[in-house]
Amino acid sequence: EFGNPARGEEVFAQCRSCHQIGQGATDRIGPHLNGIFGRRAGAHDGFRYSDDMQMMGADGLTWEIETLDAYLENPKALVSRTRMNFAGLKDSQDRSDILAYLRQFSAS
Ligand code: HEM
Repeated sequence: EFGNPARGEEVFAQCRSCHQIGQGATDRIGPHLNGIFGRRAGAHDGFRYSDDMQMMGADGLTWEIETLDAYLENPKALVSRTRMNFAGLKDSQDRSDILAYLRQFSAS
């Protein structure tokens, strides 16, 4: 479930070395995360994803609360050879808060 978006913005500090979000966000080491909810995995045009991420998207992986929660907890458990070099957010409160923050930049 969704937590506190203001706290989620603080947790997002761990992502900013690779991801931008909000007005004017562009792709960096990772894709920008505007509109991530409801989007097919590995489907943001112009970003070069890992083969695994593209395959998961082609197989139907879509970013929703449950799938984002699983990916952020342990990226390689969901997408085994993902290029996202991030250990994961082990604290479920951190994940709920960050998901509330990310949702503010998605229409769905
Ligand atoms: C992919 C979120 C931290 C690099 C993604 C995706 C999400 C995401 C949702 C999938 C994007 C898509 O399918 O369009 C986050 C969040 C983070 C975080 C919320 C912090 C909690 C990081 C860090 C790095 C990174 C620290 C760099 C060291 C990447 C890369 C991809 C990616 C390279 C593409 C993965 C692939 O093609 O397999 N991230 N990320 N991310 N992220 Fe992150």
